[in-house]
Amino acid sequence: MTSDNVSIEHAHQLRGVVRVPGDKSTSHRALMISALADGTSRIEGLSTGNDVASSAMIMEQLGAHVERDGSVVFVTGPEEGLRAAIAPLDCGNSGTTMRLLTGLVSSIHGDHDLVGDASLSQRPMDRVAIPLELMGALVQGRGKSVTAPLHVQGRSTLRAIDYHVPHASAQVKSSILFAGLVAQGVSSVLEDVRTRSTTEDMFRSAGINVESDDVAQGRRVTLHPGRPEACHWTVPGDPSQAAFFCVLGAVHRDAVLNIIDIDASPERTGFVGVLQRMGATIESEHRGTHLSLAVSSSALVATEIHSREIPSVDEVPILVVAASAATGVSAFRQMNELRIKESDRFEGSMELSRRLGCRVWSDGDDFFVEGIGGAEKFSTFEIDAELDHRMVMAAAVAGSAGSGCRIAGSATVASSYPHFFGDLAALQ
Ligand code: S3P
Repeated sequence: MTSDNVSIEHAHQLRGVVRVPGDKSTSHRALMISALADGTSRIEGLSTGNDVASSAMIMEQLGAHVERDGSVVFVTGPEEGLRAAIAPLDCGNSGTTMRLLTGLVSSIHGDHDLVGDASLSQRPMDRVAIPLELMGALVQGRGKSVTAPLHVQGRSTLRAIDYHVPHASAQVKSSILFAGLVAQGVSSVLEDVRTRSTTEDMFRSAGINVESDDVAQGRRVTLHPGRPEACHWTVPGDPSQAAFFCVLGAVHRDAVLNIIDIDASPERTGFVGVLQRMGATIESEHRGTHLSLAVSSSALVATEIHSREIPSVDEVPILVVAASAATGVSAFRQMNELRIKESDRFEGSMELSRRLGCRVWSDGDDFFVEGIGGAEKFSTFEIDAELDHRMVMAAAVAGSAGSGCRIAGSATVASSYPHFFGDLAALQ
């Protein structure tokens, strides 16, 4: 085990209010859109995680000025626009930074080198390289799946594109939309499943002409080129982080938790419906685009979950913890995208459930979890997080509601939620 081991004890009782960090997706885009704009933007509630810090640092390397004043961040985009940096752009552990940035720098004339950590350097970038090359940029990486380090040759004008994204991915859609800002003509992106609309919504707020039309279960986004205007952004709480506390409140034997002020977008909150279907007591209160959740101890029953319900599959590892505590066999369908996240979460989630004491098996892209009928029956376990923040938090929730655990590589939680362990301890 590495030096950043953490031990989690069973918590006897959990009470309190949780305010999770600012939404990571909104935070990356707020920095990037503000850096592209001419003038000063103000961002309130930016995510404090390392992933977003990577995006901020890179925007500075490209010529934007980023200044923190307490919880507010000011970003000034240069009047003449961003320019290529000499040093490599280090995306750290952040797939969103690398995929969105590849699109963004495709629109900046010159050469760009993008690097990442050991986990990010394994993740496929061909999904963005293919459409961006069709638009006229050059994107080179290692092997067939084009892994980092990446070399991108950007152009100040690109060809417009009409692209059908072959697998649900907000990152791919967004990468094309960022490049489309300098395309000669109108670009359109068609997705078969509606992924988070953060980029198109924020572009619209920044004065870009972008339309969205629902097409069956998917969506077509049409973008006219343009330069974003400087804006005031308020970042809502991150629903993907709220999911950890929601499951904790539901599976723990004696819990009453309130999770406040998260983004209410339907593409992000599918996990709430899944948990309610499993029998979780969750009351939700909508205020404008924000959502607060009150969750308490519940006896859960198994369910069937299709990846369409949780398009990014970010919440699947923690839903596996819920399924492990439920009664009956839960089915997780079409979960292939889990394999190419910060770690192989398909295998990692199954292994976590197995270590909790559950019977688990897979069939192609589906896997199944036979719940043990109560988190108090979970075994004590050890796990290695393998540079995957969500696996750290899923394991910690299981240990806290169950019989404790030891997590190696726990420091990687700082990618998205540096205060996670403090917030967890504050509930006891
Ligand atoms: C994100 C999109 C999702 C998600 C990631 C953040 C984004 O990935 O997993 O954590 O901000 O666009 P996909 O591109 O697979 O949807």
